[in-house]
Order: sequence, then structure tokens, then C-alpha cells
Amino acid sequence: MSPALNSPKEIHRWCRNFPGTRAQISEARQFVTSYLGDHLETDTAQLIVSELATNAIRHTRSGLPGGRFGVTLHAGSTLLILAVHDEGGSSTPHLCRAEDEDQSGRGLCLVETLSARWGVHGDNAGRTVWALISLTPADQAA
Ligand SMILES: Nc1ncnc2c1ncn2[C@@H]1O[C@H](COP(=O)(O)OP(=O)(O)OP(=O)(O)O)[C@@H](O)[C@H]1O
Ligand SMILES: [Mg+2]
Repeated sequence: MSPALNSPKEIHRWCRNFPGTRAQISEARQFVTSYLGDHLETDTAQLIVSELATNAIRHTRSGLPGGRFGVTLHAGSTLLILAVHDEGGSSTPHLCRAEDEDQSGRGLCLVETLSARWGVHGDNAGRTVWALISLTPADQAA
């Protein structure tokens, strides 16, 4: 775990922008890992950032030539808010219906399952999709 996350009172914020290409999804995962380290929830955070970054590239202008997306982590000792910022588009993030036969439309359902809460800010000019996950405190992780 990052030593910074051991402090019970501090909230830390880390941000990074990425070119909007599929190759950058693994970079975004690595960015998350670099701050959470071997925390119990690191795998969950990696999955969430993968889904949100993939959506930014697939569904927004972030995935067009020259497009970019951003990742922000707000982390304390017991919570993490993971936010992905995109360059907007005509669609709106939404949960797809479970009865749909289509194999796509699962990413945000996964985010909903893995997070305590998730939500969206912004409009067609640019959106932030965020997810909140609880972190196991360092003294309970053993
Ligand atoms: N950042 C975003 N901006 C605009 N629309 C979005 C964004 N993220 C998701 N959406 C919309 O919400 C829908 C549901 O997203 P979700 O991630 O669940 O499914 P998907 O990306 O279509 O497929 P999958 O994630 O299973 O490959 C998308 O089809 C898209 O219309
Ligand atoms: Mg998706």
C-alpha cells in the first residue's frame, strides 16, 4: 500500500491525463496501482478504471484522433473515489437492461456491482464518471 494511504485523516488527490487510445487503458490501470499498491481493493479499482476508460474511448470524443481522457483518484484511508473525465459525446452513461441479449452493455453494471456508489457529472461537452469504493484500513488488512 502507498504509505500516503496509512494516514486516517488525510485525503490525497492524484490526476493524470492520457491519450485516448486503447493502449492507454493499461497505463491507466498502472496509474491506479502506483498509488494503491498492494491494497486489498487494488484489483477492484483496476477493473473499474478499465471499464470507465474504455467507455471514454469508445463512447466519447476522447477516442477520436487527438482525444484524451483523464483519471483522478481521491483517496483516504478508508475510501477511494475514482473518476474518469472524457471529452463528451451524444450518448449518456446508463445501465443497460439485464434482459438484453446483447453481450455489450455490461461495463457500467460491473462498476455498479463493484462500487458503493457511482455517478455522472457534465454534459455533451465533457463528462466525469466516478465510482466510490470502500478501502480496507491498513490495520485490518492482515
Ligand atoms: N463516458 C460515457 N459517455 C457517454 N456515454 C457513455 C459513457 N459510458 C457509457 N456510455 C453509454 O452507456 C452505455 C452503457 O455502458 P456500458 O459500459 O455498460 O456498456 P458498453 O460500453 O456499451 O459495453 P461493454 O462495457 O459491455 O463493452 C453505453 O453503451 C453508452 O451508450
Ligand atoms: Mg463499456
